[in-house]
Amino acid sequence: MFFKKSGIEIKTKNEIEKMKAAGRVVGEILQKLSGIIKPGITTKEIDVFSEKYIRSLNMLPAFLGYNGYPATACVSVNDEVVHGIPNASRVLKEGDIVSVDLGVIYEGYYGDAAKTYAVGSISDTAEKLLKITEFSLQKAIEQILPGKRLGSVSCVIQKTAEDAGFSVVRDFVGHGIGRAMHEEPQIPNFGKADTGVKLLPGMVLAVEPMVNAGGYEVNILDDNWTVVTRDGSLSAHFEHTIAITENGNEILTKID
Ligand code: MF3
Ligand code: CO
Repeated sequence: MFFKKSGIEIKTKNEIEKMKAAGRVVGEILQKLSGIIKPGITTKEIDVFSEKYIRSLNMLPAFLGYNGYPATACVSVNDEVVHGIPNASRVLKEGDIVSVDLGVIYEGYYGDAAKTYAVGSISDTAEKLLKITEFSLQKAIEQILPGKRLGSVSCVIQKTAEDAGFSVVRDFVGHGIGRAMHEEPQIPNFGKADTGVKLLPGMVLAVEPMVNAGGYEVNILDDNWTVVTRDGSLSAHFEHTIAITENGNEILTKID
């Protein structure tokens, strides 16, 4: 790969194929978790399932050991926004929502995605929060086209969330991804359309709306990882790794 002036790496087809191999595994796990997440399971079980799955394919969990992070998955319940640490005594119950964020490394290349699940039946507000957050990611992906500017991606996420009466987290952002989990550019979930860097074929972006039912402010718990909403409101998180192609984009972490 080479560096454009923006500092954003352009990946070759071969590199994108490796990222797709990593991303596919992330997508498969998130898909399989739909059948596993139910009242009574612990957040640790989600982590154990994910790590076993990744290692069975001779791939590596990307988060484990990253800045000292102690697990394979981030598992964040209800008012936890992101970076919740899996815990064998945290039992999911009917009505909870739970966000699972996973990264995989294949031959040095990264894939990163997240999804928020309903545990049993959930409140109407929670249902709407999940729908809107996933929809904001879908709308963002529609903006990821060669020649468009990054601000249009950020803007549509913010607009989709705020039009529904929700807010977007400011303190955490999406990111470029490749041979490192976090590359340039940063991708805020708020911004102005038609501003920022121009998107080009070969860029790969991890776009990750974090949407709160209440205010956008967050705190970090004493474990130095878990991010929670300051007002205790529910939060949802969806993420995909997306490559920009000559005439569109390709989701590398697709969930079938
Ligand atoms: N998707 C998150 C991110 O891009 C996951 C990082 S969790 C960490 O930052 F534990 F690895 F830091
Ligand atoms: Co990410």
